[in-house]
Amino acid sequence: MSPRLRHLTTLDHLPRSAIERLLDSAEHLRDACAHGTRKLDVLAGRTVLTMFFEPSTRTRTSFELAARRLGADVVNLDIELSSVRKGEELVDTLHTLEAMHLDAIIVRHAQPGTAEAMVRLAMSGVSVINAGDGEHAHPTQGLLDALTIRQHRPDFSRLKVAICGDIKHSRVARADLRALTTLGVQDIRLCAPPAMLPPADEFPDAQQLADFDQAIAGVDAVIMLRLQKERMQATDLPDPSAYFQRYGLDPRRLALAAKGCLVMHPGPINRGIEIASEVADGPQSRILEQVSNGVFVRMAVLNEVLAR
Ligand code: NCD
Repeated sequence: MSPRLRHLTTLDHLPRSAIERLLDSAEHLRDACAHGTRKLDVLAGRTVLTMFFEPSTRTRTSFELAARRLGADVVNLDIELSSVRKGEELVDTLHTLEAMHLDAIIVRHAQPGTAEAMVRLAMSGVSVINAGDGEHAHPTQGLLDALTIRQHRPDFSRLKVAICGDIKHSRVARADLRALTTLGVQDIRLCAPPAMLPPADEFPDAQQLADFDQAIAGVDAVIMLRLQKERMQATDLPDPSAYFQRYGLDPRRLALAAKGCLVMHPGPINRGIEIASEVADGPQSRILEQVSNGVFVRMAVLNEVLAR
């Protein structure tokens, strides 16, 4: 059995057994708190701090709910109102917060590698959990997407998955690729305009396709991604209606996928740009299931790194 995790900064190098343990634990926790509302006390007396340097609705709220539902105390540092705005460096903010005796810090930052840097800089035994660092990693998103697919399509060895959109700037795409390939998925297709594809050697196991009709043909799950304007130059931005024509998921394209293909998106969605409303709100959409699973996966991760 792989050793218990102390931090979670990326899914790279995480063995299959560790990923499966976290997914099993998320399912167990979901059953233990029926409807997600019953509170457990396994993390009573533990303190968790969230620090989000980039906007978030789903990730931050679900981490906070996850910690509370396990009985931990939670503090959310408001970056805009913090001394970060007075020029305090990350290392000093980190050591200041550590001096208040925290058990875990959940961090989102625009700079790739921030969570790993915090693991290196930390002076106490604080656990660091990455909630997204630039375009690099978003491990809990990879886990919750794998869990959502597993609930519907448990045999990953024959699964076909397409990931479409702004892959180059997407930590979600990287996390999903890592999770799914580690769990044995062999057919993963990446589809994006040429300027939004990652370097071909970054994911040698995935096929890169420019034509979405071709990429989606026969897939069991399609993961759509937002255009991450915050990581692009204004000049790189495609015209929204032309983009939707070529790379948007509409009912005609979805009909090319396998019957009952799971429609996924990490959110926030941009209706009419990467996904049509009929599809986002349609019967094959798993988007809100992903959100629900996010709470259980984050409970599993907190429980793994913090349980005594
Ligand atoms: C994503 C993120 O922040 O990386 N959202 C999320 O965590 N659910 C995707 C995005 O912002 O497009």
